[in-house]
Amino acid sequence: MSLLVTGIGELVTNDPATGTVHDAAIVVDGERIAWIGPATQAPAADERLDVRGRAVVPGFVDSHAHPVFAGDRAAEFAARMAGEPYTGGGIRTTVAATRAATDDDLRSAVRRLLTEMRRQGTTTVEMKSGYGLTVPDEVRSLRLAGEVTAETTYLGAHVVPAEYADRPDDYVTLVSGDMLDAAAPYARWIDVFCERGAFDGDQARAILTAGAKAGLGLRIHANQLTEGPGVRLAVDLGAASADHCTHLSDADVDALAGSGTVATLLPGAEFSTRSPYPDARRLLDAGATVALATDCNPGSSYTSSMPFCIALAVREMRMTPAEALWAATAGGARALRRDDIGVLRPGARADLVVLDAPSHLHLAYRPGVPLISTVLHDGVPL
Ligand code: NIG
Ligand code: FE
Repeated sequence: MSLLVTGIGELVTNDPATGTVHDAAIVVDGERIAWIGPATQAPAADERLDVRGRAVVPGFVDSHAHPVFAGDRAAEFAARMAGEPYTGGGIRTTVAATRAATDDDLRSAVRRLLTEMRRQGTTTVEMKSGYGLTVPDEVRSLRLAGEVTAETTYLGAHVVPAEYADRPDDYVTLVSGDMLDAAAPYARWIDVFCERGAFDGDQARAILTAGAKAGLGLRIHANQLTEGPGVRLAVDLGAASADHCTHLSDADVDALAGSGTVATLLPGAEFSTRSPYPDARRLLDAGATVALATDCNPGSSYTSSMPFCIALAVREMRMTPAEALWAATAGGARALRRDDIGVLRPGARADLVVLDAPSHLHLAYRPGVPLISTVLHDGVPL
């Protein structure tokens, strides 16, 4: 079955060969894009969707999310807004709730967030474990995530769980040994929260090295709350992405700029923890590749909205609307080492968003407004 999407007022392709085009059309054949060009030259197709001058952009690629959890931490958020700092210690509260949840409850929680994401234009989402922190609970989280996405990440090294508080090295052994062996068949990636109060540089290196040996791709929560070794470790190990990048030294910025590691910025976390935003301008001007993602989780960033993150990146992080949109689509694809998403060109997956707006500028210009008109995922309208 083929579908002609025509009447596109502005088409952002992220394909350097095509750029942004006006009065455009796209032909979708099955799950893939078959043709892109001027609306006047579009070939015929089985079905036709006239979007009447609206803008079309690639589906958002949310390359960092923690949607497999039970309960919420609204009270912790309220306490922060009353002046308490964010430490990451609340992760253990969510671990307790997640362990206590049934499979069905956890599955519906994941699907509810996925539905929210899709409605806001996200067509690919990476999902981490990390609120189980036992062998069966981590495997369960990855199995449930794997029911809805191919981009699953083993985050057994999210925090040292309470029962290992007085022997953290034993937990590192578990995470890089038996837990990794059980989790690896369900995961594409491995991630570590490298931070004071979570895992230090040596522990993170040991865990990630074990993950790479087990065939997993590498990503790191790095330099979120303090300047630390995470970013340089990511670059050193050839990780696909270093995430957060809020507190960076000049050496960190240089390392990222000279590497194939994407700097994934998560402004929902700074918003929700009332923290200074990462300096996207400094990274971009140095030549680093920047992605934007939601970090959707119940503690530091309970948003599922990529448009919200784009608006924050433009208003608070001095990214241009075009840079922010690229980071939320092609940047996320790079952070997942994918070339079939985040770009609209023949052969790419037919993941695209029709905006209820004449241009992509409106994503930041009209913050908080539901501008997602139609979402095609694998060629199928949601
Ligand atoms: O990316 N930093 C570590 N993990 C999450 C927060 C998790 C939580 O607070 O529950 C993050 O911000
Ligand atoms: Fe995170």
